[in-house]
Amino acid sequence: MARLAGMVALVTGAGGGEMGGGGAGIARALAAEGAVVAVNDLHKEYAQATVEQIISSGGEAFSVPGDVSDPRQATAMVRTVIERCGRLDILVNNAARLGRSPAVERMSDDEWLSYLAVNLSGPFYMSRAALPQMMQQEYGRIINIGSLAALRSSLNGGAGYTTSKRGLLGLTRQMAAEFYSYNITVNALLPAGILGGRMRADMGPQADALVRARRWALPDELGKICAYLASPEAHLITAAVIVVPGVNATGLGDFAQYRAMAKQIGKDIGE
Ligand SMILES: NC(=O)c1ccc[n+]([C@@H]2O[C@H](COP(=O)([O-])OP(=O)(O)OC[C@H]3O[C@@H](n4cnc5c(N)ncnc54)[C@H](O)[C@@H]3O)[C@@H](O)[C@H]2O)c1
Repeated sequence: MARLAGMVALVTGAGGGEMGGGGAGIARALAAEGAVVAVNDLHKEYAQATVEQIISSGGEAFSVPGDVSDPRQATAMVRTVIERCGRLDILVNNAARLGRSPAVERMSDDEWLSYLAVNLSGPFYMSRAALPQMMQQEYGRIINIGSLAALRSSLNGGAGYTTSKRGLLGLTRQMAAEFYSYNITVNALLPAGILGGRMRADMGPQADALVRARRWALPDELGKICAYLASPEAHLITAAVIVVPGVNATGLGDFAQYRAMAKQIGKDIGE
């Protein structure tokens, strides 16, 4: 049974198709549950790779290229989706500025602001544009893709990344409070590690070991969680903060270390 039949979703930063990351997996999973998916990314060809993958699996999708950190483009993208489909039920704010940045004492203004622009202002602009339609429909599901860094710190991204993702938790909670009575839920998924298509291809069989250890998630696994949160039956779940894979939130550190500790106390947790 297609849980999202008749619904329209917009997923930001969802390009790349098979070689894409979390966004592409979320777009595929929502389409597999019957939603028409508007696939956003910075460049049309990149967004189109996911659109084609969805269409070739029998789903419905189209691309809405644009920069989520530009308020005019964000508004225009949402308007395009509503004009084309007549509604907008699900918004997944996944697009992110990723990559390595220096420690605070060497970070430029531009670098700092670029993280806030994409990772925090982007979800704000996209949500602000989508909410009036969701309020009118009395149905809306906004899912903000944060990061475990929001609860800890980040090695790669640095202060801009960590702070923007922490801010996204505030935005999530505030919007959950403001729109709950319209049957609009707002939740945050905090990935700890996503084994995207490109990374999986580069790593080969080693990648499977990471997935088996349940420390990393595959893009489509994140997508399946989003599909549930986006469905009517999840109407009571709002303002939730969900770490994926959840074991990373347990504070038990690295899996190998955990296994060694478990062995010491004679607990069998498998391989
Ligand atoms: N990869 C990880 O291990 C990891 C860990 C923790 C959190 N996350 C979060 O999960 C989400 C997915 O990450 P991923 O690594 O799978 O990446 P992804 O493949 O989903 O890539 C993000 C996409 O955002 C797009 N993008 C960047 N700036 C944009 C903008 N201004 N407007 C529109 N699109 C833009 C990029 O082109 C890219 O395709 C992100 O929010 C990321 O911060 C990822």
